[in-house]
Amino acid sequence: MMSDKTTTNNSAEPGSGTATGMLKEDALKGKTIIITGGGTGLGKAMGTYFLKLGANLVITSRKLDVLQQTAAAMESATGGKVLPIACDVRKYDEVESMLKQSVEVFGRVDSLVNNAAGNFISPTERLSANAFSAVIDIVLKGSANCSLALGKYWISEKIAGNILNIITTYAFTGSAYVVPSACAKGGVLAMTRSLAVEWGRHGIRTNAIAPGPFPTKGAWERLLPGEIAEKFDFKNRVPLKRVGEHQELANLAAFLVSGFAGYINGEVITIDGGQWLQGAGQFNALEMIPAEMWDSIEKATRSA
Ligand code: HXC
Ligand code: NAP
Repeated sequence: MMSDKTTTNNSAEPGSGTATGMLKEDALKGKTIIITGGGTGLGKAMGTYFLKLGANLVITSRKLDVLQQTAAAMESATGGKVLPIACDVRKYDEVESMLKQSVEVFGRVDSLVNNAAGNFISPTERLSANAFSAVIDIVLKGSANCSLALGKYWISEKIAGNILNIITTYAFTGSAYVVPSACAKGGVLAMTRSLAVEWGRHGIRTNAIAPGPFPTKGAWERLLPGEIAEKFDFKNRVPLKRVGEHQELANLAAFLVSGFAGYINGEVITIDGGQWLQGAGQFNALEMIPAEMWDSIEKATRSA
């Protein structure tokens, strides 16, 4: 992946807030990529890096004013071309229209990043049926709508496109207090693996990224409001003792949509500093034992 034409700064310390681009400057040149939820947070970070790598970008979400502001900022930061389109992923006709406009402007579309999401924390029994559906509709139905529209287009136009789904690590494990999101992300994971096989024969690759904690306004305000952020302190739940940097995620996403990942299909790559495994291992909580106690523990286990 690296050459003397990279944007990489190998001297940067991981987690120091200085993560830099990984791929060759023209790694996505001539490609057109749609990012749903591309006006904010991680979608914005991935999009900005795709532009730096030479891609044309379509960003979509419900709020056109946010998309337009982001598009202008991205274009002035990178010199790339960004098309902002209002599109509610829950509505298939809006998705079809968004795809049509993208093709009209850029000639073709090569990649879809299903990044749009909705989420909030709540004990499940407090949720209305409508609240449960609101999250499922954005995450699962929205990802299905976009994948379906793009898949039909790629197959009929004989384009070897690719889909990248942004899921979560609790798609594997489930999680209390975010049950609609866990159900929906689990469904998107199943869709990733299913379509990888079914559409692989058309040259269409389908992969997923499962991010751990990457601070964004959207996620943090809904999942860690007020004092919860302090009480929950994500950093201490990660073996590497830090949250992720947006550029670290953008590097992985750019690799997966690029031709460098041409033989990766049906894969989900976790980028979480080891967080979900820390929660899973039966004896992992022993890290709380002070170093000096291990002498007496060893004595006890040897004499047992
Ligand atoms: C309980 C709630 C609620 C809350 C809304 N509802 N917020 N119920 N607790 N905090 C209920 C409403 O009362 C309503 O039910 C139903 O949900 C739909 O609400 P609307 O506001 O009409 O829905 P909508 O406009 O579709 O908004 C969707 C949303 C909102 C999910 C509620 O939060 C949103 O737009 N989010 C987008 C951005 C986002 O969530 N980003 C975070 C992604 S982070 P009733 O019965 O009253 O009609 C992520 C993973 C992070 O996904 C993992 C971190 C490690
Ligand atoms: P975010 O900024 O809130 O992004 C969510 C985006 O989805 C917003 O731009 C929102 O824009 C859009 N959206 C919501 N409903 C939509 C709809 N019906 N149609 C179209 N777009 C819609 O949060 P984020 O943290 O960057 O999350 C990005 C992705 O990463 C999500 O899939 C999330 O689950 C995943 N993730 C994040 C973290 C993290 O730590 N941040 C961890 C794991 C996974 P509008 O409101 O304008 O529609």
